[in-house]
Amino acid sequence: MIETSNLTRKFGDVTAVEDLTLHVGEGEVFGFLGPNGAGKTTTIRMLACLISKTSGEARIADYEVGNSADCQKIRKIIGLVPDNVGLYEDLSAYRNLDFYGRLYECSDAQRREQIEYFLKMLELWDVRDRPVRTFSKGMKQKLAIVRALIHDPQILFLDEPTANLDPEFQKTVRDFILELKHEKRTIFLNTHNLDEAQRICDRIGILNTKLVAEGTPEQLMESLEGRKTQVQLQQVTPAVTGAVERLGLLYVVSSGNRLVIDVSDPEKENPGIMEAIVAAGGHIQFITEKHATLEEVYLKLVRDEQ
Ligand SMILES: Nc1ncnc2c1ncn2[C@@H]1O[C@H](COP(=O)(O)OP(=O)(O)O)[C@@H](O)[C@H]1O
Ligand SMILES: [Mg+2]
Repeated sequence: MIETSNLTRKFGDVTAVEDLTLHVGEGEVFGFLGPNGAGKTTTIRMLACLISKTSGEARIADYEVGNSADCQKIRKIIGLVPDNVGLYEDLSAYRNLDFYGRLYECSDAQRREQIEYFLKMLELWDVRDRPVRTFSKGMKQKLAIVRALIHDPQILFLDEPTANLDPEFQKTVRDFILELKHEKRTIFLNTHNLDEAQRICDRIGILNTKLVAEGTPEQLMESLEGRKTQVQLQQVTPAVTGAVERLGLLYVVSSGNRLVIDVSDPEKENPGIMEAIVAAGGHIQFITEKHATLEEVYLKLVRDEQ
């Protein structure tokens, strides 16, 4: 649905995005993570045909980014929630949406239907006639999302939609994004909120001018540490650690009664590990898979780059 190949954007001497190659499939929620200044907004602006690319290629559905005829078509199938919401403060919520609907040449009926549907969904229907300047930040952010959906786009770009929102609004926005995913829309989400990315994204790309990693949250976590099996015992005895060593496995002891064992294929290795521990007199209380957190992966990757 979204495809880029060596996409690059320079501003004078500053390279904002370098050789970005990625693929976002239809119906996928793709999280684009990176520190401030990583090039996330620049990437979205290029893909939304708001600024030109310096080099490389990008395609949205069947259209080519950078080709002016195609850009007209791209604008019709995408919606954009920019990092600054940019609404008309003196107009009511409804008038703001209606205005955008007209810009996109939506019919009267479509505008009416879409506006009512989304405002009700985000609980803004009752305040639709109030000027936007009386809205809280969270309400404005929700309205900006609705605005991006007026023309019923298949692809939605969101630039840090939950930044500066309180946890309750963050959750509303997250739930709404998941709702849009159920409607089979493709979602490209810029965020520097790791927890958010982990909760709602099918795949994540970590950007630091260049793409430093890409994969499902699980793949990214495994890529850093490999897989680990954590066995919690009543007590870790020398007999138990000796048994694990004889299996040729590396381990560390944590919190006094846990063994964290490096494994490559836990589904195959775990039964043997448990048998060996039990045979050595160990009392197993829990056995779980231990992952690096996405935060650990992210911090390591971003630091390694610097
Ligand atoms: N219009 C611009 N003119 C000059 N430099 C820019 C412009 N827009 C972005 N940049 C630079 O490009 C880099 C990436 O910025 P941006 O895409 O906004 O990052 P992010 O959204 O990840 O925080 C930064 O170094 C920023 O200063
Ligand atoms: Mg940005």
